[in-house]
Amino acid sequence: MQIAIDGPASAGKSTIAKLIAKNLNFVYCDTGAMYRTVTLLAKKNNVGYGDTLGILKLMSEHKIHFTNEIDGQHVFLDEEDVSKDIRTEEVTNNVSQVSAIKEVRTQLVQMQRDMANDTNIVMDGRDIGTTVLPNAEVKIFLIASVEVRAQRRYKENLERGINTPLKELQDEIAARDYKDSHREISPLKKADDAIEVDTSDMTIEEVVKKVSEIVNKQG
Ligand code: C5P
Repeated sequence: MQIAIDGPASAGKSTIAKLIAKNLNFVYCDTGAMYRTVTLLAKKNNVGYGDTLGILKLMSEHKIHFTNEIDGQHVFLDEEDVSKDIRTEEVTNNVSQVSAIKEVRTQLVQMQRDMANDTNIVMDGRDIGTTVLPNAEVKIFLIASVEVRAQRRYKENLERGINTPLKELQDEIAARDYKDSHREISPLKKADDAIEVDTSDMTIEEVVKKVSEIVNKQG
């Protein structure tokens, strides 16, 4: 069984997807982490975020892989665990440029389909329901207002000791959504058969309950 969870930045996709996967004992795959890892790879090697050939060369020379641990999914670049490094502001603010490159998407989509091939999976991203797993049994499109999303990110950041002004976070989220939904290849878009869930006024528990109900009905 395949469950696709898509939606804009910071809508709580990974939090919800992880909990649903845990409850159902499914594999969880965070596809955003893959685009972030390629962005980090470019940064580490001083290759421009728009340098298609340079990035493709790096992708052919390095290996990205995932492991599922008790504390969640870990991402490795060659032998190095980069799960934390892919969450920096620098990566967050440049990932949309890298993820707009057609050839990068072709390679990562193939990896994602291979991962989903012979296992029950919950996959979150931007194009899972539309492109990666168009036949997924369950498709959820998770949204929340940009104010609520910025507020959630602000709180999370404070817990991690980061104090970025709320307005800056709001602008960053809006800019990333704009880029992700206006790129040429597989833009962020609700699949026609996806069910939209607006989490603006919902707690995590309420969202998990709602999504579980949809899974029970559709799956
Ligand atoms: O989900 P997350 O915010 O970590 O995703 C980071 C970025 O990766 C997105 O802003 C988007 O540019 C890209 N992405 C994508 N397609 C996906 C998942 C993420 O283009 N399926």
